Amino acid sequence: MTRAFALGGDGVVLDLPREGDIDALYAACTTPLVHETLNVPWPYERPHAEGFIREYAPTVWASGVGEVFAVRESADGPMLGTLELRRTAPTVGNLGFHLFEQARGRGLMTRAVALLLDWAFAHGYERITWEAIAGNHASAGVARRLGFTFDGEAPSSVTSGRHLGRASWLAHLDKAQHGLELDAHNRPWWPRPGELPEAAPLPRP
Ligand SMILES: CC(C)(COP(=O)(O)OP(=O)(O)OC[C@H]1O[C@@H](n2cnc3c(N)ncnc32)[C@H](O)[C@@H]1OP(=O)(O)O)[C@@H](O)C(=O)NCCC(=O)NCCS
Repeated sequence: MTRAFALGGDGVVLDLPREGDIDALYAACTTPLVHETLNVPWPYERPHAEGFIREYAPTVWASGVGEVFAVRESADGPMLGTLELRRTAPTVGNLGFHLFEQARGRGLMTRAVALLLDWAFAHGYERITWEAIAGNHASAGVARRLGFTFDGEAPSSVTSGRHLGRASWLAHLDKAQHGLELDAHNRPWWPRPGELPEAAPLPRP
């Protein structure tokens, strides 16, 4: 029995990835930006997208190790991204997200993560963590807008593959910080382009 559920609001629907999403996911995961930023297999083949939807997502849901969503703008709309929370300690979850190219630049992922944070902090999570390859300012923007505190740089937590040994940026958001009105006095500092060392880009695939 799966524990999967859907969330919705603010023009976002988060629900279970489904068979009809395979083509969209496959197309989105073959881009150079995905090679550079995400820890997915490379070269990314259609069976990887099939495996994500048919096996990986249902297994994560069923096992309770986290929540894996498709991001859409309506319940019957196409998959526009993926959003995942993986439990790394009893009350700590680590975020992962990917918004497909056609849906970027209008705040959809920020709204999607905000929805997930509302749910997570109401259901036992006390801290949500974020990690990205150092210099991924698009991803940092999502965390920054939602009030995450920037924790600095560390070796990437990936243990194999092309991101092994690259530098990561880390951040966290605690339940007490969630939803605070951010102004000049309490807005956490985040690096702007050029302010901190960034990971050297991978050779273009
Ligand atoms: C990281 C990623 C999800 C960010 O996508 P995005 O479209 O920039 O994020 P959002 O959906 O939150 O949109 C924010 C953008 O919309 C703009 N925007 C417009 N209306 C907005 C609103 N109401 N609220 C927030 N942002 C809004 C913002 O200004 C921002 O654009 P800018 O960066 O040019 O200033 C996307 O680039 C991606 O999937 N990249 C590849 C995979 C990746 O890096 N994943 C993260 C790994 S840690």
